[in-house]
Amino acid sequence: MPCHGHDTMMDEHPAKPADDSSNFVFPKWLDRLRPPVTVIMALAPLYVIALFAFGAGPAAISVGHMPDQPVPYSHQVHVGKLGIDCLYCHNTVTESGHAAIPPTQTCMNCHKNITVKDSENLTPVLESAATGMPIEWIRVHDLPDYVYFNHSAHVQRGVGCVSCHGRVDQMEKVYQAEELSMSWCLDCHRNPEPHLRPLDQITNMTYQAEDPIAEGRRLKELHNIQPSTNCSTCHR
Ligand code: HEC
Ligand code: HEC
Ligand code: HEC
Ligand code: HEC
Ligand code: HEC
Repeated sequence: MPCHGHDTMMDEHPAKPADDSSNFVFPKWLDRLRPPVTVIMALAPLYVIALFAFGAGPAAISVGHMPDQPVPYSHQVHVGKLGIDCLYCHNTVTESGHAAIPPTQTCMNCHKNITVKDSENLTPVLESAATGMPIEWIRVHDLPDYVYFNHSAHVQRGVGCVSCHGRVDQMEKVYQAEELSMSWCLDCHRNPEPHLRPLDQITNMTYQAEDPIAEGRRLKELHNIQPSTNCSTCHR
């Protein structure tokens, strides 16, 4: 950093008074460097902000990303064990670009009656229902803002949840199963056949066609599936 070594430099020029524009004392030779140094120091905070925005931001979120949630809600229990369909909770995926996280009311359909003895895991859910304050779920998947994605465009065309989210029914805690990189999107847009299934199998986590290649080809032709690879499809 440019301000490093200040102390030793000040020792060499103890008598030089601070000028109007600065509280620091700079040695003569450093004066020539001052404009660039000032620029660097002025830009440093921007650099840090940029680092957070692009480095630690959504673009850096990767496979395995598994944030802690305010309630230890388990897909493994609710989907795997109890057999609740994805659409019971994520009921907007088929019509809208976004797959909404369910409101507390959806949980209360069951949990107003079902409480688990001696468990505090449901306390935040009951509190949320009583106060009307939503539970603050932490996002797991988050594409950069400059990417346009749309759930219904996939789900309505026969791409199942499992192709992009993995075996959610086995996840105690949801994590990002796929890379969500541009090449990941494009790989499937160029060759969608292996990922196509009948529309009534979209939320089935274990669907397997008897002859996946023939079935993929059949569905592609039947529905005239032609995923676009134009830049403007995903960057608008
Ligand atoms: C009983 C309600 C319920 C059902 C059924 C359900 N989910 Fe969820 N889902 C949630 C809740 C609540 C969250 C937010 C908390 C979390 O991430 O665990 C969530 C989060 C997710 C996320 C992560 C969202 C993000 O933040 O990126 C994905 C992906 C997901 N669910 C997929 C599925 C799939 C696929 C199915 C069916 C196999 C399914 N869910 C069934 C309630 C449900
Ligand atoms: C269709 C009914 C149903 C819905 C809807 C439902 N649950 Fe559950 N939930 C259950 C049942 C039944 C259990 C007990 C499962 C077991 O222990 O085997 C349970 C267990 C839980 C537990 C574990 C409690 C413990 O300490 O073991 C949590 C936490 C929980 N649910 C949160 C939620 C949240 C949050 C939602 C809404 C997003 C939700 N549930 C929606 C039926 C439901
Ligand atoms: C073609 C891939 C793909 C398919 C198929 C897919 N998802 Fe997603 N899902 C994504 C991506 C990518 C995101 C992150 C979107 C973003 O950040 O804008 C996401 C995000 C989510 C979220 C978080 C809320 C949101 O909309 O950002 C939930 C919940 C979810 N998906 C559930 C589902 C369910 C349930 C299904 C099946 C009915 C499904 N997804 C099918 C790729 C997919
Ligand atoms: C597993 C396969 C698969 C993956 C992964 C996938 N897509 Fe798609 N995508 C499709 C299919 C199939 C269609 C439907 C094409 C059609 O309707 O002819 C589609 C359609 C779309 C559309 C709608 C295009 C239109 O003309 O309306 C957008 C936008 C899109 N995808 C964006 C993305 C983005 C962004 C990603 C990555 C984050 C992604 N897709 C990942 C298979 C996939
Ligand atoms: C099917 C969807 C899709 C299409 C088509 C697409 N992109 Fe992307 N693009 C993405 C996604 C998703 C990301 C975010 C990648 C990440 O976060 O790692 C991205 C990121 C980018 C970036 C940021 C730098 C990087 O590599 O991370 C640039 C630049 C870019 N795309 C340019 C293009 C251009 C130019 C085209 C056309 C030739 C194009 N994209 C077509 C989905 C797409």
